[in-house]
Amino acid sequence: MKFFLDSAKMDEIRYAYDTFGIDGVTTNPKHIMNSGKTFDEAVHLIADFIEEKGLKGVDRFPVSVEINPNLTDAREMVEAAKKIAPISSNFVIKIPAIEGGIIAARELEKEGIRTNVTLVFTASQAIWPAKIGSLFVSPFIGWKESNGEDCRKYIQDIVTIYKNYGYYGKTQIICAAIRTGKQIVDCAVAGADIVTAGLAVYKDTMKHPYTDSGIGIFTNAWEGTKKE
Ligand code: E4P
Repeated sequence: MKFFLDSAKMDEIRYAYDTFGIDGVTTNPKHIMNSGKTFDEAVHLIADFIEEKGLKGVDRFPVSVEINPNLTDAREMVEAAKKIAPISSNFVIKIPAIEGGIIAARELEKEGIRTNVTLVFTASQAIWPAKIGSLFVSPFIGWKESNGEDCRKYIQDIVTIYKNYGYYGKTQIICAAIRTGKQIVDCAVAGADIVTAGLAVYKDTMKHPYTDSGIGIFTNAWEGTKKE
């Protein structure tokens, strides 16, 4: 399973890559706003990081960058994507899962620009990106579960459909907006290819109170193993 970092903050991207080897990055307009940079500044900083680390290539370290969310017309979406894609060969263009978005993503994939169909909330929406050959599909988990839904069947259905029709692994499933370790486990059990989460979520998944209390117990015991 691959782990992407959901962030446009360079300090977080650098830390997550250098310390626990994240496999890629997903951004969205909210993350870019939170980075304190303009869109152009943020994407160029990420492109520079890819160069610096020698990570060129969408297969090595994909970075999803979303087009202007005001766009709904397929032709305008394609034009917008074509301005972003040349900034880095690692960029995968995020397109919303609406009719115009599917038409645009299909066109972009035909022209060799890789796409990530985002804002997917049902298994039926997830079929289209696979059918038109997107590199990624991003079913959102956290938003649905915050709203009281249990996403286990939803993820499992997408994986099953992809396996039934030979899409599995070709259009990779990024379970997005992950908030908890349990959600990561649910996605892993279902067979999702990738999860994307913020740095704080990943750090939380490395913790357990029993681990901390166990360290306390063993620290005391360690003292008892010393000779007087
Ligand atoms: C994924 O690609 C999205 O950027 C992301 O997961 C959206 O959710 P969030 O910003 O609420 O975490």
